Amino acid sequence: MEQTLILIKPDGVKRKLSGKILSRFEDKGMKVVAMKMLILSKKEAEKHYAVHKDKPFFNGLVSYIISGPIVAAILEGTNCISITRTLCGSTDGSKAQPGTIRGDFSMGIEKNIIHASDSVESFQYEWPIYFSREEIIEYSSGDEELIF
Ligand code: PPS
Repeated sequence: MEQTLILIKPDGVKRKLSGKILSRFEDKGMKVVAMKMLILSKKEAEKHYAVHKDKPFFNGLVSYIISGPIVAAILEGTNCISITRTLCGSTDGSKAQPGTIRGDFSMGIEKNIIHASDSVESFQYEWPIYFSREEIIEYSSGDEELIF
């Protein structure tokens, strides 16, 4: 089973889309194994996005992600990193396919509703910014044989 990190960004939380967004992943068959609402510190945001520190949008991206509460969650399921990215849609909401989260709810590249880890390496780097190991709850949802 693979795990991935998602963040419902400040625009998603303020627009009251958190429930709808989480439902998409749960409806697909993924299991939420950790979840919390928080406001990131500037230091945490800079750590999360360190890979983009030389990009022109870095400062704006950091200011935006710390501008309000976010929902962080770890999802679990077969191939869930790539499946989650597919469900999110293209980075730029104005170009994302209808039916994807960004395609249905976002019009822009900055306020694009959701973040999802893009690789196993990214997930391993990102999740400890948000959770301790004890906050990841292993449990059986009992429906695995119906999903996979
Ligand atoms: S890149 O340059 O291809 O590596 O960037 P990309 O993977 O498309 O995006 C990485 C994150 O940066 C955000 N982003 C932006 N924010 C503000 N303005 C602009 N122009 C911009 N371009 C990219 C994008 O939403 C990604 O955020 P996360 O949270 O990782 O999805």
